[in-house]
Order: sequence, then C-alpha cells, then structure tokens
Amino acid sequence: MFDLFLQDARRWVTPGQVSTAPLSLRQLLALLFRHLPLRAMLWFRFGSWCKQRGIPFLPGYVQRRLYRRYGLEIVVGADIGGGLYIAHPVGTVISPQRIGRNCTIVAAVTIGMRNEWEFPVIGDEVFIGAGARVLGGITIGDRARIGANAVVTRDVPAGATVVGIPARVVKVAETEVKASEVASFKLS
Ligand SMILES: CC(C)(COP(=O)(O)OP(=O)(O)OC[C@H]1O[C@@H](n2cnc3c(N)ncnc32)[C@H](O)[C@@H]1OP(=O)(O)O)[C@@H](O)C(=O)NCCC(=O)NCCS
Repeated sequence: MFDLFLQDARRWVTPGQVSTAPLSLRQLLALLFRHLPLRAMLWFRFGSWCKQRGIPFLPGYVQRRLYRRYGLEIVVGADIGGGLYIAHPVGTVISPQRIGRNCTIVAAVTIGMRNEWEFPVIGDEVFIGAGARVLGGITIGDRARIGANAVVTRDVPAGATVVGIPARVVKVAETEVKASEVASFKLS
C-alpha cells in the first residue's frame, strides 16, 4: 500500500510529471500539506489496503469520506497501479476494472459502466482530460490521451489521442500502433 502511495506522491513533486527520485519523509509531509488531492490518494490506498485484508467497515467509511471531503467517488479496493495523479478530484467518478501505472486524470472525469455491468480497462501512462467520460467494457491502450470532454465508448489503441463525442482518433504514435488496430476509428 505504502509503495503505491509513494508512487502517487512522486507525481506531485512536479505536478503531473513522473518522478523516480526518492522522497524523504519531510518532502512527503510537505507534499501532503500542499496538495489536497494527494491526501485523497492516501485515504484511497489505506481503504484499499483494509479491503484487501478483509477489515470490516473501514473501506466503506473511507469511500464515504472520500466522497464527502474530496468530492471524489472512487471504488475503494479497485485495481489501480501506483502513480495515479488526479489533479482535481471534485466531481470525478472512478469505477474501472483496472487502471495501470502513472495515469493522469485531470478533472470531473467519469470512468464507469455504460449500459451493461462492464467497466473500462485502462493501460499505463494514460492521460484523461477534464470532463472526459470513459464508458463500458472497453480497453484504453498504454500512453493513450483522451481529450477534454471526450466521450469514449470504444477501444482506444496504445499511443492514440482521441477527442470529441463520440471520441475519434486525431493522432497516433505510429511506433506503437499497427494500422489494423486503428482501422475501426475515423482518422481525421
Ligand atoms: C487531447 C489533447 C491532449 C491533445 O493535445 P495535442 O496533442 O496538443 O493536440 P492538438 O492540440 O494538436 O489537437 C489536435 C486536433 O484535435 C482537436 N482537439 C484537441 N483537443 C480537443 C478536445 N478536447 N475536444 C475536441 N477537439 C480537440 C484540435 O482542435 C486539433 O484539431 P485540428 O487538427 O482539426 O486543428 C488536448 O487537446 C486536451 O484536450 N487536453 C486536456 C487538457 C485539460 O483537461 N485541461 C484542463 C485543465 S484544468
């Protein structure tokens, strides 16, 4: 739990960036004092730790506390890799099947089900802009970027940038993506 939280904290050394430098206790406390979203992550990691160990009541308490105090609805115990950076937690809903390492969620994002009881799988280092909605049992590839206010209801290939409603690919990192993977998207 603490290791995952340390990875979360490193995202705040330079906000939004991935830092690998070790953090002293003093630096960690300073980051916690300065950045309210990081405090939310500490509660999330603690609640998830309690849930994994089958500790009763605390995970539910933590989930409600995150909602009341930080405006963040996140499923405590969800499979979320270290280094999650939520810039502005208020109004953000995070209910994934899985989120990889070092992902960025800017503000007022919804990650959750669409019509069926299926939830998104999000890769590593994915960027999700303000107001975006990522819905259903879809897969977002590593290093994909989702534009502000996009509504994503289909798979996004690794390294692609998608924008709009419904989201469409506007850029692809050619090195990462086979043409066949993007064929189902309309490239502008
Ligand atoms: C998606 C994003 C990451 C792409 O950035 P980029 O790689 O620099 O892409 P560009 O700005 O070159 O945009 C590429 C095209 O997509 C369009 N586009 C970019 N973001 C868009 C968005 N959110 N919605 C609709 N269209 C968008 C651009 O107008 C451009 O279209 P054009 O080629 O017809 O001119 C960025 O635009 C974005 O949405 N960032 C989110 C920032 C955020 O959440 N800020 C909130 C701070 S609190």
